[in-house]
Amino acid sequence: MPHRKEFEQTLVLIKPDALKNSLTGYVLSQLSEFHTGLRFAGSKIVYVGQMLAEEHYAEHRGKVFFPSLLEYIMGQLHYPDEPWKRRVIALVYQGVDAVKKIRNICGPTNPHIAREKNPGCIRALGTLVPLKDAAGNIIGERMDNLIHASATNEDAEREIKLWFAPTDIPPFMRAYPTEINQAHYYFKDGSLLLRHEPESMCLLAPGDIAWKTDIDTLRSLEKGSETVGSLGSVAAKYLMNTEKE
Ligand code: CDP
Ligand code: MG
Repeated sequence: MPHRKEFEQTLVLIKPDALKNSLTGYVLSQLSEFHTGLRFAGSKIVYVGQMLAEEHYAEHRGKVFFPSLLEYIMGQLHYPDEPWKRRVIALVYQGVDAVKKIRNICGPTNPHIAREKNPGCIRALGTLVPLKDAAGNIIGERMDNLIHASATNEDAEREIKLWFAPTDIPPFMRAYPTEINQAHYYFKDGSLLLRHEPESMCLLAPGDIAWKTDIDTLRSLEKGSETVGSLGSVAAKYLMNTEKE
């Protein structure tokens, strides 16, 4: 068996500004195995809905840039009139020091600081956008920095489980425990249902492989006990690209 460090994973999102500016190929080549020694463990093209956006950036809820950040990651700012172009590319990279290596190549969060401190990093190609209140006063700034990368191993685990189901990742590359689900779980109007109703969407059916923490969350929601995660953190992934959330 390879050493545990070989299995370290990190989540990367190629954000809508990178897609709009046709920087995908550049980003992928910067992060390629030749440069980083890391391997792809997962990839998908995702239409980012409100629930997924809010879960992904949960730690920033309440900050002045939060509403704008959601519009940014959902693609509304870069494709206001072309909703069909709104998407991000979500990737899982795996290998020794995956989190640190990718954060370094991305560079500082603020593109101006990125250009100053670390020219050549991916975020040095980003931009700052002033944020205004209804009266037109500048209240802050949004950082359009092309790429998201998990900041810590804990963030990586939460984020990878938010964006990827176990079966999106090859079996030998999965870094977190899975379980075979035994119950029926549906979702409708923000609530968990245990049987199908008209307009409800299936989250998990018996026999599906799921992250153990997702099943723990659904079970405790079912019982009404203290939960590990929110319903949104589980549902967002299964409703991804359904356009029905
Ligand atoms: O992405 P990173 O972990 O480097 O930074 P963060 O502090 O977790 O913020 C998440 C994202 O929010 C950033 O990548 C920026 O796109 C955005 N942000 C912003 O628009 N304005 C700020 N003042 C701070 C962050
Ligand atoms: Mg962060």
